[in-house]
Amino acid sequence: MKYYNSIIETVGNTPLVKLNKITKDIPGTFLVKVEYFNPGNSIKDRIGIKMVEDAEKDGSLKPGGTIIECTSGNTGMGLALAAAVKGYKCVFTTTDKQSKEKVDILRALGAEVIVCPTNAPNEDPRNYHQVAHRLSHEIPNSVFINQYDNLSNREAHYKTTGPEIWEQTDHKITHYVTTIGTGGTVTGTSMYLKEQNPAIRTLGVDAYGSILKKYKETGEIDMTQAYSYLVEGIGQDIIPGNFDFDYIDYIEQVTDKDSALMCRRLAKEEGIFCGYSAGAVIQGILQMKDQFTKDSVVVIILHDHGSRYIAKIYNDDWMRDRGFLKDVIVTAQMLVDRKKISELVAASPTETLVDAFARMKQMNLTQIPVMENEVCVGSITEHGILQLLMDNPNHRDNEVGKVMGKPFPVVTLQATAADIAKLINKDNTAVLVKTNLGSWSIITEFDLIEAMA
Ligand SMILES: Cc1ncc(COP(=O)(O)O)c(C=O)c1O
Repeated sequence: MKYYNSIIETVGNTPLVKLNKITKDIPGTFLVKVEYFNPGNSIKDRIGIKMVEDAEKDGSLKPGGTIIECTSGNTGMGLALAAAVKGYKCVFTTTDKQSKEKVDILRALGAEVIVCPTNAPNEDPRNYHQVAHRLSHEIPNSVFINQYDNLSNREAHYKTTGPEIWEQTDHKITHYVTTIGTGGTVTGTSMYLKEQNPAIRTLGVDAYGSILKKYKETGEIDMTQAYSYLVEGIGQDIIPGNFDFDYIDYIEQVTDKDSALMCRRLAKEEGIFCGYSAGAVIQGILQMKDQFTKDSVVVIILHDHGSRYIAKIYNDDWMRDRGFLKDVIVTAQMLVDRKKISELVAASPTETLVDAFARMKQMNLTQIPVMENEVCVGSITEHGILQLLMDNPNHRDNEVGKVMGKPFPVVTLQATAADIAKLINKDNTAVLVKTNLGSWSIITEFDLIEAMA
């Protein structure tokens, strides 16, 4: 029989996958190490298990004990897996910047999760590091794991990630590239790889708003560089103990927008559905393209899975609200997808104007089409109704068909916002479009403005 003794044994030995499209214009071979193949869907399973086992060995974690940690979710997942198998309790502190999905997953694994304000500075008692620290003094038989300064973090990468990459590339790796947060992934793996071949270059990818790049280049902790950004898990406003900057040759910084858009490309062009920091690291590769030659064998770490970011970078409204999708050409299809009322509200030519208006009022609509046998034969608008009633109040009991305005123009799903805007004017406030399901949908002046504002 072939089986593992517990889920812990399935951590590591993740696949190395060649990128075929995104890096096609850059010389070299680009191989991504897809860490979402770990049971907790991230690279942090490696350190979760190692930190728990090392705490057991040094006696700081005793049977029935409680594991306390501040985590953006992924490390919590690794710790929670180990805790479930080994019978420990977990209490995690995290920040309100992290995806709700990550918090829900940790709770599903039995952990208690305390969400702290992202903007509470390091010295603030509400800061997530401070809360974890305080709890470790208050809860008996507990251990504060502290992935930032706990060197078992980088040791896990020295013992597993590094050797795996060395073997998987048949010792041919020339560049190692990863995003940097606690510093564990970059330092531990780089230590191992540079021990095997000191010529291997290690490149770190950091977020704008983090102090790490400037610290590497000047040795200065410059808090004027620190501001909040959106990519989860990377960058810092402290220097964690797991960093050894001698093992990093260069650090590149990337923006929230470029990283988010790159995640979408990774999914659509390579079929690799990853988390936000994966977009950051690939964006970093494109920005550092001059560092590679045709002989480069570049190994890139993709830290976690996209499912935890569904409500964020993979959600069009979230992206648009942050101005990340502005460059995209808005089409009728996109406008239809955004609509809150999916069914078309229409009038019949044989009902009275007052009945049709009652429906518009109830649904809070300014205009509706008049439909007969699935064809738009006219329209009624608030403005038109007012004109009719001013002219003669008895129009209220007239049949819609006798007083309606012109039908709305019809566009295809491929029509762009610019095409639609040309059809919208003071006499015509909407267009109709046939959806892929065969039903009609309406796009109003308001829908256009909402999508573009
Ligand atoms: C999604 C994600 N990417 C990248 C990192 C950075 O890795 P490290 O902390 O090992 O530097 C983290 C760390 O939390 C992470 O959760």
